[in-house]
Amino acid sequence: MSTFWSLWIIVLTTINLALILWVLLANRKVAVHDDDDPENKTTGHVYDGIEEYDNPLPKWWFMMFVISIVFTVFYLILYPGMGGFKGIFPFYKEGHWTSVRQLEYQQKQAIESYQSSYGVYSLMTVEELVDEPRAMKMASRIFANNCAVCHGADGGGSLGFPNLTDNDWLYGGDPTAIKETLLHGRQAAMPGWSGILGEKGINEVTQYVLSLSGQEHDAELVESGQAIFKANCASCHGADAKGNYAQGAPNLTDDIWLYEGTPAGIRQTLRDGRNGVMPAQKERLREDKIHLLTAYVYSLSQE
Ligand code: HEC
Ligand code: HEC
Repeated sequence: MSTFWSLWIIVLTTINLALILWVLLANRKVAVHDDDDPENKTTGHVYDGIEEYDNPLPKWWFMMFVISIVFTVFYLILYPGMGGFKGIFPFYKEGHWTSVRQLEYQQKQAIESYQSSYGVYSLMTVEELVDEPRAMKMASRIFANNCAVCHGADGGGSLGFPNLTDNDWLYGGDPTAIKETLLHGRQAAMPGWSGILGEKGINEVTQYVLSLSGQEHDAELVESGQAIFKANCASCHGADAKGNYAQGAPNLTDDIWLYEGTPAGIRQTLRDGRNGVMPAQKERLREDKIHLLTAYVYSLSQE
């Protein structure tokens, strides 16, 4: 702000304060009503026959005003509302007060306090953090605020949202893979097959998928289902159907399902495909928080 506008505001503020003080003092004394009746203590205002007494301000009330004005004057000088005076607060020491300087000061303080709590943990490995109860407690709060909506408060997942507490991974469960998932997100691409295989082919390969996890199935269709699988599915799910971290293709042999593992659920997956999205956290959470979360997710499946 230029000197002119600083002065302008200082002058206006001072004049306003003086006016307030003047109004206050001017109303302290009861006016002498020079009519004939010395007993007349009313203001002379009459509303529907009701008269208004002209009493002085109560003393305590008057004093409260005086005290607040004195306070205002001191506050203004120290704040400092009267120009370049370096006030008593730390952020004025670096020059006179501006809202930007105050913000910068407080941000600097916040970063310092974060660093003292997260900083140490950024230097530790995921394996070390798992055994650090305080770090895990902080991480569990970050998880509750950012991840629980989709993965559940205990990380147990639900339909379409993977369980993070078991050892069945779409993209891999070592610290590097988990961190990669968190930083950059994941986008699954399981194509839909109804146009390619038709309802008959879908049914056959469904029976084969059911057989892989030892569920009840139609044995007569398994052979043709297996042929379809080899030709269309093995490239992602693997020839042994054990899945593939690089594609995020689930293991189909373990009877752990991201979507429903029933005949109807599998058919639905095959007809329309599935495209689960894990949102990237890099822009949302800072790297040191993601490091803590990586350790937390890692710890969930280490029993
Ligand atoms: C391009 C790679 C790719 C191909 C080809 C592919 N899948 Fe998938 N499949 C995936 C991915 C990735 C997922 C996980 C989808 C998600 O996470 O949303 C998946 C999911 C599934 C699921 C659901 C598993 C669960 O846990 O709920 C089944 C069942 C499945 N695929 C069967 C098949 C069959 C059968 C074929 C062949 C007809 C096939 N897939 C072809 C990549 C593929
Ligand atoms: C909007 C919902 C949503 C939120 C929020 C979310 N996730 Fe996910 N997450 C998913 C989905 C969906 C998948 C599975 C993607 C797929 O189908 O391939 C996933 C996958 C993952 C995986 C990979 C699991 C595996 O088996 O490889 C990890 C690890 C994970 N999430 C951790 C987290 C953490 C930690 C957070 C909190 C920062 C989080 N997620 C927030 C929806 C979410």
